Amino acid sequence: MQFKVTANPNPTAAADREAIIANPTFGTHFTDHQIVVVWEKDKGWLSAEVIPYGPIMMDPSAAVLHYGQEIFEGIKAYRHQDGSIWTFRPEANAKRLQRSARRMALPELPTEIFVESLRQLIAVDGPWVPKPENEKTLYFRPFEIAAENFLGVRAAQRAEYRVIASPVGPYFTGGVKPVSIWIALDSARAGKHGTGEAKTGGNYAASLLAQMKGYENGCSQVMFLDAETATYVEELGGMNLFFVKRDGSVLTPSLDGTILHGITRDSLITLLKDRGHKVEERKVSLAEVREGALSGDITETFACGTAAVITPVGVLKSDKEEIVIGGNEPGELTVSLRKELTGIQYGTVEDRHGWMVKLAD
Ligand SMILES: Cc1ncc(COP(=O)(O)O)c(C=O)c1O
Repeated sequence: MQFKVTANPNPTAAADREAIIANPTFGTHFTDHQIVVVWEKDKGWLSAEVIPYGPIMMDPSAAVLHYGQEIFEGIKAYRHQDGSIWTFRPEANAKRLQRSARRMALPELPTEIFVESLRQLIAVDGPWVPKPENEKTLYFRPFEIAAENFLGVRAAQRAEYRVIASPVGPYFTGGVKPVSIWIALDSARAGKHGTGEAKTGGNYAASLLAQMKGYENGCSQVMFLDAETATYVEELGGMNLFFVKRDGSVLTPSLDGTILHGITRDSLITLLKDRGHKVEERKVSLAEVREGALSGDITETFACGTAAVITPVGVLKSDKEEIVIGGNEPGELTVSLRKELTGIQYGTVEDRHGWMVKLAD
């Protein structure tokens, strides 16, 4: 598929861009261009363009505004020391976008178009990728919406896939410190056969009430439990969870339909197995975590995702209790895994699994 390129006639001045990427904050500034690829029923994916960044002209009857047919991805571009620009496992994000599309009755974007869309955006906005220092990257936000003008509930008949990009800084200011997590006891994110494993806007809207309660209680993220019994740990609002045991084995909740298939999660399972750790993907109850933290059998807990890479979890809190894990200090395995993964992403640690894909020289 050929991308038609229309350059932004009023791009950000180089000095302003450099000031933004010297000190980026998540999701506040965007590059000069966006990608738009259009799909229509009976015609398929029919046009692909790079256009100036700007508002989307949309009819008030557009399906996405009424029935929430929206899916998205999050993936980063990393600049290496030699100036080249790379991304991490883009085929995995493409596959996940396809999985989300199937669940939300949207068309599946072919993997080649997904990867090419990132390349095309970098071809025009490459200077927006920060230098490889202090964990700075360019964050891509690919998303797809049902963009037909029709007030009826039905599978999309016209869809738009777009990509925007925002320079981002380190999730942690002042080093990797353990976070406190709020346990959502009266709010569920995803039910059985629902949309939990799709990366769709509504799941995030559904998590906000609990997130606000978490903030009020000094927590930075929320841990959701299974919706049916509130017994088993699922994931955080935007990250997957791992528990490290004293014997070196590692537990992570299994992907039973309600949990996002995290690409960081999958990559860490591989890195842990490479190191000889036993990794168990299974149901993990809150009671098991509570008892393990208390007895010292669970020595570390960490959350992982593209935005924050790996975050140590020091405390789990609810109205009923406060569970402290590993003395509320970052665990040894947590820190060393984080170093290995970021090293692979920035090209300073060997990429044994062929995860990195070059976007530009
Ligand atoms: C709900 C949820 N779980 C887990 C993750 C982690 O996924 P990934 O590692 O692919 O970023 C994310 C972030 O995308 C998320 O939104």
